[in-house]
Amino acid sequence: MNTLPLILAGAAVLVAQASRSTWDGVYTTEQAKRGAAVFDGECAGCHGQAGAGGGMAPALVGAAFSADYDGQTVGDLFDRNRTTMPPGKEGQLSGAQTADITAFILQVNRFPSGSTELAATSMLLKQIKYVAQDPNPAPNQGDRPPGTHQDNTPGKEWIRRLERPERIPGLKVATVIASLNLMPGDTIADIGAGTGAFAIPFARAVAPNGTVLAVDIHQDLLDYVQIKATSDHVMNLRTVLAKLDDPLLPKRVDLVFFHDVFHNMNDRQAYLQVSMKYLNPGGRIAIIEQEFNDPIAQKWDKPDDRITREEVQHWMASIGFRLQREFDIFKGSNNPAGTGMPERWFVVYGSGANDRPLHAGR
Ligand code: HEC
Repeated sequence: MNTLPLILAGAAVLVAQASRSTWDGVYTTEQAKRGAAVFDGECAGCHGQAGAGGGMAPALVGAAFSADYDGQTVGDLFDRNRTTMPPGKEGQLSGAQTADITAFILQVNRFPSGSTELAATSMLLKQIKYVAQDPNPAPNQGDRPPGTHQDNTPGKEWIRRLERPERIPGLKVATVIASLNLMPGDTIADIGAGTGAFAIPFARAVAPNGTVLAVDIHQDLLDYVQIKATSDHVMNLRTVLAKLDDPLLPKRVDLVFFHDVFHNMNDRQAYLQVSMKYLNPGGRIAIIEQEFNDPIAQKWDKPDDRITREEVQHWMASIGFRLQREFDIFKGSNNPAGTGMPERWFVVYGSGANDRPLHAGR
């Protein structure tokens, strides 16, 4: 047997690993959670809660800590934890426990999590560089006044971001339409319509008698959608300039749709309450949102600005809505690669009365 290809393959793996850094999602949230439990028992007594520092020992977060490890490797941090800590009990934690604690330390230092765990051996971890500064800082985590979730990034910048050609396949527009079981004659409000990637195909799906309301808070975007609709001969689309806390729909609708925008509502529960008032009997609310811990989502939006499907479940329950269907078309390998779009969950809620049967999706 010729071993050369194996050697080459091994070398390729090493090269791929050597180029990894703390910014590449090198631990999992599950691992950090286990690490947090060990940390609480063995380390927090001196280093403080979440390594915030105490009288007995330095903080394991913040500028001084970052400066110590910047340019080293995760393996160096692992070794420090394993061979010098806790003082007096050095070397008593297992490799796996030390890896978990190391994952927790990465998490409290705000490095993104990913889908593989940190290995439990220093040698492998020496191939992951500890880089304090994000090498690809998010171009923008949103232009948000303190204490709000709204994003005041101007419409022109949104056009540039939303019209990236590789983004469109990541929206799976035809699959979303099939999943929603739209009918000719339906009226749809596409809230946060952006550049119309969904609104225009929605309009075609409900033509000729149905209407799509393309709703946004940026007039620039509405103008852009209108020009696109006109040049595409889509006549059943109307643009609506919304307020931050009210879509100001001019008529009742059968579906309120949010793609990657519901997290921008300042008061999410109140926004559902307002949205519900615009629904026809049997009307539905569909939400597609970023997976909370997806690395791309973590880059775009700070934790406070992201939401979970459990939170949405809670807000929906507060308006008496229940889950009709959930689709996994944007999860795992169903989420098309190379589009720069995070994994997302996709839920459809209704009041329970006159619920429309839905297709199986996919
Ligand atoms: C009894 C108190 C005590 C406990 C418990 C303890 N440490 Fe420490 N740790 C210290 C002190 C003091 C220092 C600074 C002096 C030194 O470098 O040894 C330190 C330093 C460190 C450093 C180096 C910080 C830097 O900026 O380079 C790391 C990493 C660390 N500890 C991790 C841990 C972990 C992980 C645990 C739990 C497994 C732990 N420590 C438990 C007292 C403690």
